[in-house]
Amino acid sequence: MLWIAGAGGVGREALDVAIAAGVPVAGFLDDRLAGRRVRGLPVRKPGELPSGAPYLVGIADPAVRARLAELLDAAGGRPATLVHPRAIVAPETELAAGCLVMGGAHVSSSVTLGPHSQVHYNATVGHDTRFGARVTVYPGANVSGAVLLHDDATVGSGAVVLQGRTVGPAAFVGAGAVVTRDVAERTTVVGCPARPMS
Ligand SMILES: CC(C)(COP(=O)(O)OP(=O)(O)OC[C@H]1O[C@@H](n2cnc3c(N)ncnc32)[C@H](O)[C@@H]1OP(=O)(O)O)[C@@H](O)C(=O)NCCC(=O)NCCS
Repeated sequence: MLWIAGAGGVGREALDVAIAAGVPVAGFLDDRLAGRRVRGLPVRKPGELPSGAPYLVGIADPAVRARLAELLDAAGGRPATLVHPRAIVAPETELAAGCLVMGGAHVSSSVTLGPHSQVHYNATVGHDTRFGARVTVYPGANVSGAVLLHDDATVGSGAVVLQGRTVGPAAFVGAGAVVTRDVAERTTVVGCPARPMS
């Protein structure tokens, strides 16, 4: 039975994906809500993951995702991947362990998703695009073909990344931005064309 780390918004959305996909969920792992019930399921502390149990980190912040995944791996957990049955994932696409793909997402041909990456609802990812670890593509964003999204990069809701561009490590593309040039490491860009926030 799957444990979902994080009982906040993305964690509960991950539960929705699991229910739609027919994946049984044991409960949530969340320090803040430990001992309570969320959506009728028990919440434990992350350190209480049963050894060998599958887990998925349902948290948007890549830094928190990294910390939790490390802790849960050390506790003997096994990262699992969840794909909504109404998402389209091309057959030759590779999803590393720990990925979450929500309903209405379309992940196209020959895409590689790195570990613990998330593609939220109605987002699209074009052919030959490569994700590092813990990449997040928020709802309705469109990542074009042959894009490189480095570790911990985030693409905000409704943003567009043009084909062949690179989004650097821990960079953040603001909601609605249109990325026409490569985005440097740890830089937040907004607008059309996207420019670093001042
Ligand atoms: C880019 C972003 C990270 C900046 O967050 P922030 O640093 O807290 O920025 P603030 O809200 O303080 O806004 C600072 C300024 O930038 C502007 N701004 C913020 N986000 C913007 C965006 N996406 N596009 C254009 N301008 C933006 C604000 O209007 C404000 O301008 P002002 O100073 O002239 O009033 C954030 O606004 C964003 O787009 N996040 C993505 C949200 C998302 O996709 N969520 C999905 C959840 S399901």
